Amino acid sequence: MTIVRALVYLITTVFFVYGVMRLRQPATARSGNSLAAVGMFLALIVTLVGVSIHHPLILIIGILVGGVVGASSARLVPMTAMPQMVALFNGMGGGAAALVACGDVLRLVPSARTGPAGLAIALIDILIGAVSFSGSIIAFAKLNEWMTGRPITYRGQRTVNGVVFGLLIVGGVYLVVSGAAGQAGIFVAYALGAVALGVLGVVPIGGGDMPVIISLLNSFTGLSVAATGFLLGNDVLIVAGTFVGASGAILTQLMSRAMNRPLGNIVFGAFGKLQTGAGEAREGTVQQTSPEDVAILLSYANRVVIVPGYGLAVARAQQEVKELMTKLEAKGVDVMFGIHPVAGRMPGHMNVLLAEVDVPYQKLYDMEAINSEFPRTDVVLVVGANDVTNPDARNNPNSPIYGMPILNVDQAQRVIVLKRSMNPGFAGIDNPLYVHPKCQMLFGDARQSLGLLLQALSEVVA
Ligand code: TAP
Repeated sequence: MTIVRALVYLITTVFFVYGVMRLRQPATARSGNSLAAVGMFLALIVTLVGVSIHHPLILIIGILVGGVVGASSARLVPMTAMPQMVALFNGMGGGAAALVACGDVLRLVPSARTGPAGLAIALIDILIGAVSFSGSIIAFAKLNEWMTGRPITYRGQRTVNGVVFGLLIVGGVYLVVSGAAGQAGIFVAYALGAVALGVLGVVPIGGGDMPVIISLLNSFTGLSVAATGFLLGNDVLIVAGTFVGASGAILTQLMSRAMNRPLGNIVFGAFGKLQTGAGEAREGTVQQTSPEDVAILLSYANRVVIVPGYGLAVARAQQEVKELMTKLEAKGVDVMFGIHPVAGRMPGHMNVLLAEVDVPYQKLYDMEAINSEFPRTDVVLVVGANDVTNPDARNNPNSPIYGMPILNVDQAQRVIVLKRSMNPGFAGIDNPLYVHPKCQMLFGDARQSLGLLLQALSEVVA
């Protein structure tokens, strides 16, 4: 049996590696995901067959509840709520790893690592897993608007967090040196302290930064799962945990780079806190336009670039955007999509929305590729994007987003912005693009505006 299990774990690992490789391209991502899921299923079966199960009913109930919740939320949760779903699922992973490690310390699970080294790994596992669990729950609550999305801060906050972290380290060392078995009180305090640290660490972070924090916590979960693998002597957990840990860390780094904000600023900067004077008042006139005028403008364009943002996701206007692309192409207009790496609220948000309605991948250009095209573009249609088009990021050293790479839409001949009002985006700051002489605003819900635009376009074409 041991050989069969080792072989299946090896196959599972190959499935994971190959599955992750396929995630790199949108065209192959779905099959990559399925492949990794099959690998996980095989690993589960072979693990279950190889152990003596004391309480099969509890196991079956757990699998049924988990399966039903997972499958139904994957189908029912809207795209805009995907970040909080990921947060919740990630928290469960971290919590599960921490609980297994607790079971190991309390000698409830068969351990492969004993002695002080095994105990140290278990305590690190509990610390990271519990922080990931409670931090992810707070991230979920913030994104789901169950609590304020604004940073919650108070005087001396960092000192308090530092002291809690310090106490956990001291407590952990004491438990290893003295042996945890006889120290139940300190062990329980240690585990609860780790849960508290996750809460204390995430409450000062603004809701808009949550995707980066979720990715960081995801990396923590991966590490705790890998540590659990060490404890149980389970290779497939080590491999899967390392994958999650590494990919979460890489994604965190990519996101902070795309926002031009060091990770320390995201974790400790309380970005999104209400600030007076965060946006400077702008001189200039906002020009409003109508769907009919935009339809005429688009009909006579050679090249149109569509820039989607968070508002597209809120309005669920992806189908209308696709129809607009098809209609314009039928008229001989060259249509491209300019995708900013942090447009929306999670990595790949815009790519997923556009893939959902079968916009060809070749039409999606990332920031570096599309920026050189703007000077040769007749019209840019900004659909619910704001911060990622804000020229202050390039020109105004006083702006909170100064230095963040943006889509240079202001270099095109004309810019049409579809949004509902003059309200700011996630960063909470004014966008001088809206008073630029080249720019006109088409106010309204993006889906409704696009519907009117499509209608007007049919009339122009006819
Ligand atoms: P935002 O700057 O947040 O702007 C979105 C705009 O959409 C808003 O100004 C809003 O204006 C408009 N909008 C909302 N609902 C709409 C609707 N139904 N119809 C039409 N417009 C609507 O979005 P962005 O340009 O995509 O930038 C993303 C921001 O999120 C960046 O600041 C980025 O740093 C941050 N962020 C992103 C990520 C990732 S990984 N994507 C992670 C963390 C932070 P109205 O209210 O006037 O309609």
